[in-house]
Amino acid sequence: MGKRIIVTGGSGKAGQHIIRYLLAQGHDVLNLDLVALPAEFSERVHTMIVDLADSGQVYCALSSHFHLTEPFREPVNLMPDAVIHMAGYSRNMIAADNETFRSNTMSTYNIIEAACKLNIKKIILASSITTYGVSYAEGDVEYPSFPVDEEVDANPMDTYAIAKVCGERVARGFARRFGRDIYVLRIGRIVAPEEYKEAMFESYVKEPEKWAVHAWAYTDARDLGKMCDLAVHKDGLGFQIFNAVNDEITNYAASSEGFLKKVLPNSPFTREMGAREAPVTNRKMKELLGFSQDHPWQKYYEA
Ligand SMILES: NC(=O)c1ccc[n+]([C@@H]2O[C@H](COP(=O)([O-])OP(=O)(O)OC[C@H]3O[C@@H](n4cnc5c(N)ncnc54)[C@H](O)[C@@H]3O)[C@@H](O)[C@H]2O)c1
Repeated sequence: MGKRIIVTGGSGKAGQHIIRYLLAQGHDVLNLDLVALPAEFSERVHTMIVDLADSGQVYCALSSHFHLTEPFREPVNLMPDAVIHMAGYSRNMIAADNETFRSNTMSTYNIIEAACKLNIKKIILASSITTYGVSYAEGDVEYPSFPVDEEVDANPMDTYAIAKVCGERVARGFARRFGRDIYVLRIGRIVAPEEYKEAMFESYVKEPEKWAVHAWAYTDARDLGKMCDLAVHKDGLGFQIFNAVNDEITNYAASSEGFLKKVLPNSPFTREMGAREAPVTNRKMKELLGFSQDHPWQKYYEA
């Protein structure tokens, strides 16, 4: 049966694909964002303009009707089944560092606090593989070990990723305090369908030595919708962090381990990797959420 789901940041790149996927599964969605969704969504999804860094607005919005009708026809105070929190500055240097930190940490805190206190049972949060500290390091930094699983220390030095780590920590504490399911998705570089034909993906394939910063991994925007849907449906896991990436390394190396040994000869391995397993591994998500990708990059990339 379809669920009532609030998506934050639904007007953004990831959000639009996630909402499209959720609608296709029969869910009802309310979008909270600073800007409206494109017209194609207007029949089915209402956008409420909310600054999530403002706690009062978050409490009101999480307990809102989903649809603007005359008169209102939904029961008053019907809580959503889940909140999927994607909103925020999605990298460094969109805003000044202190604004990125203030807005992203407060938005995440406000969503977690309000959802827990309003008794919303499922919270799904966008984090990032930048938390592993390589993407926005000052200069070249190596991953501590491969495969990069959720046990690897997340010790970034940049503001955007530090704010993500703070959000994860708040989530862990509130999940414990309220006995809630809060699932954190450490998302890789999000690739929209049209981007497989663009320069970045070509460089992934043809100049792979340049792409430690994306961990030779990616997250298909449509598969991210599937990951969110699986997370909505899977109950009882408490606080969890999942690497939310697709299955395979983003180049044609026959062996991921062989490739990594060539480009980073001093990196340790904590287990044997699958032949073409992405260096940031989604194994936990497959095992606990039953994820299987629908969009391997090879299906869309044109050499
Ligand atoms: N794009 C990537 O490759 C990538 C990779 C890893 C993680 N992420 C994370 O995934 C999430 C979505 O990323 P995206 O690429 O779709 O970003 P995006 O910039 O396309 O969309 C973010 C949305 O959040 C909204 N927003 C920002 N601040 C807000 C606030 N205070 N209140 C309400 N809405 C606000 C924006 O208006 C925008 O619509 C982000 O949390 C980002 O950090 C993105």
